[in-house]
Amino acid sequence: MIWNSDISKAMTIQLEKIFDKLPEHPEFVNSVRRAPKRSFTLSRRDTALALTNALRYIPEKWHRKLASEFLNELLTTGRIYGYRFRPEGMITGRPIDEYKGKCIEGKAFQVMIDNNLDFDIALYPYELVTYGETGQVCQNWMQYRIIKRYLEEMTQDQTLVVESGHPLGLFASSSEAPRVIITNALMVGVFDDPENLHRAAALGVANYGQMTAGGWMYIGPQGIVHGTYSTILNAGRTKLNIPPDRDLSGYLFVTSGLGGMSGAQGKAVEIAGGVGIIAEVDYSRIQTRHEQEWVHDVVDDPGKAFELANNYQNRRERRAIAFYGNVVDLLEYAVGHHVKIDLLSDQTSCHAVYEGGYCPQGLTFEQRTDLLEKDHKKFKEYVNTSLKRHYEQIKILVERGTYFFDYGNSFLKAVFDAGVKAICKNGKDPIDGFIFPSYVEDIMGPLLFDYGYGPFRWVCLSGKRDDLLKTDAAAMECIDPDRRFQDKDNYVWIRHADKNNLVVGTQARILYQDAMGRMNIALKFNEMVRNRDIGPVMLGRDHHDTGGTDSPFRETANIKDGSNIMADMATQCFAGNAARGMSLVALHNGGGVGIGNAINGGFGLVLNGSERVDNIIRSAIPWDVMGGVARRAWARNKNSIDTSIKYNQTRKGTDHITLPFIPDENLVKDLVADVFNE
Ligand SMILES: NC(=O)c1ccc[n+]([C@@H]2O[C@H](COP(=O)([O-])OP(=O)(O)OC[C@H]3O[C@@H](n4cnc5c(N)ncnc54)[C@H](O)[C@@H]3O)[C@@H](O)[C@H]2O)c1
Repeated sequence: MIWNSDISKAMTIQLEKIFDKLPEHPEFVNSVRRAPKRSFTLSRRDTALALTNALRYIPEKWHRKLASEFLNELLTTGRIYGYRFRPEGMITGRPIDEYKGKCIEGKAFQVMIDNNLDFDIALYPYELVTYGETGQVCQNWMQYRIIKRYLEEMTQDQTLVVESGHPLGLFASSSEAPRVIITNALMVGVFDDPENLHRAAALGVANYGQMTAGGWMYIGPQGIVHGTYSTILNAGRTKLNIPPDRDLSGYLFVTSGLGGMSGAQGKAVEIAGGVGIIAEVDYSRIQTRHEQEWVHDVVDDPGKAFELANNYQNRRERRAIAFYGNVVDLLEYAVGHHVKIDLLSDQTSCHAVYEGGYCPQGLTFEQRTDLLEKDHKKFKEYVNTSLKRHYEQIKILVERGTYFFDYGNSFLKAVFDAGVKAICKNGKDPIDGFIFPSYVEDIMGPLLFDYGYGPFRWVCLSGKRDDLLKTDAAAMECIDPDRRFQDKDNYVWIRHADKNNLVVGTQARILYQDAMGRMNIALKFNEMVRNRDIGPVMLGRDHHDTGGTDSPFRETANIKDGSNIMADMATQCFAGNAARGMSLVALHNGGGVGIGNAINGGFGLVLNGSERVDNIIRSAIPWDVMGGVARRAWARNKNSIDTSIKYNQTRKGTDHITLPFIPDENLVKDLVADVFNE
């Protein structure tokens, strides 16, 4: 017989050691956004399992009280969040020196976790959702508390293992090993689908980490502003024939979503010089972006939105307009009134389309929340009808000359799932892709990822704005704006970064860079830390990068050798980063496109000024990027082959990439034609 008293005695890190007595339920601020109810679909047996699972974190003396409280949470929210264990008040990423810890990494990751849960950053802070409707730091507040305590206790010879939010424990490793290894929602193939994830999350055994939510590397919407800016600017260059030295002035970009990531769209279109109309059904999100001055006008009438936009376009003024309403209504107006839209996209949370991520036409945001809770089947029908209608408007606009691209939110897949087979190139299934491009397939893949440019980022852990300004200046010195147009764009970006007032939460910066660019900047920063010019720095990146993510509907959409259905690259990237000593490595299932549609990973590297960290930078940063470029080169992507040829020259003796020979097209074609008697 195993007794709870023995179990309790066997652990020095557990809730009982954190709290002398059961904490009071904290006060919740009414104005803070709350996650909608995740539909409760557990069987009787599973309901008992979910409760028993949650009580694993709880000392026996509190079981009686918490069992009914947890059951109530499960029935009313669809999950057991353990609200009682949430710290009272605002959580925010504080300066690193304010955290307890036995190693710098232990303190640094507490800053990152708390930043991911800041009211100004997180989408649903009380439910630990950072962004993307369902992307959580961990599953519940018990895990949060225990992870934080582990990070306080961790030494530099130990590694904390976190499996889907659950802190498995601290294990001896070495100072050269990662301090934290995270995996999220890695489901066994046969169960790797939304229904099983839904059940597993309700049971408390799966965490949907999205990308940087569960990887603790989210830096607010700034993280995506740079990517959005590059995407729409390059969409303009390649599809509207705007010359490389001109911006989007006079052009109209229409899209939807002012949420966690999508909230960047207004800011990005203004930085790119254009006019944007962004539809959003949730007024609170419009308010947030308006207060931040990331959108400047708010209208609820489609005609007024297009009229305003037209005035700004004529005056060549940069401007972001929020349309308070459903994007399908906005597009129907554009179709009906023959409005010319240059660039069109969508950034509703279609990766979680039936969980509230997409608000169907005909329902207000509040009605959507209500119906989601009361009648999921009907809600699904509404979503499917709306997606069909949405698709029809886009099709008409594209026929009239608009350039539409899927913005990595699984919109095209959602339209397919809603029953529109015509969205597939082959008219039956998505294996050959969709009739509209994804932004990675057309723009970001060939122009950025194939060269290794990706969303490199850093956080000044001192919390000092001065440190950020110093790092901006140092990064700028590392860029040669005359090398490639991408470098020029990055140079302009970083030069104006402070003026553009991009920081929300910790003092962070994003800068798209290639492998050597990232390495040089990282070495420079570590030297600055060593010389005490600045405090310690956390380096990281979005998972949405050259080598971090295998995702046929997004990051690897421009991989055409058939390997877009494989997840070897992201897995190798994760393992290679661990082997080279990154401070944190993370590997997730799902990300921005939904469960089963992607495997993605990221890293964190704490710059403490040491030579050890210099060595990690020299091996891990080039690997992190070039593993992706090498795989893209092997898939015969031209820009990756060029980049890899140069890499083999400059890194001769240290690295060596296998390159593909390209057969004569006709040789293959003729031979195959013979086989198929064509
Ligand atoms: N392009 C990228 O690089 C990238 C990066 C990260 C995430 N994403 C994807 O983009 C999507 C959005 O991410 P997010 O973090 O902003 O999510 P979010 O849920 O915070 O924001 C989406 C917003 O869309 C609004 N919305 C939903 N349906 C609408 C409708 N019919 N009309 C108007 N507004 C509507 C919601 O109210 C919400 O505010 C996700 O699927 C995410 O995975 C893309």
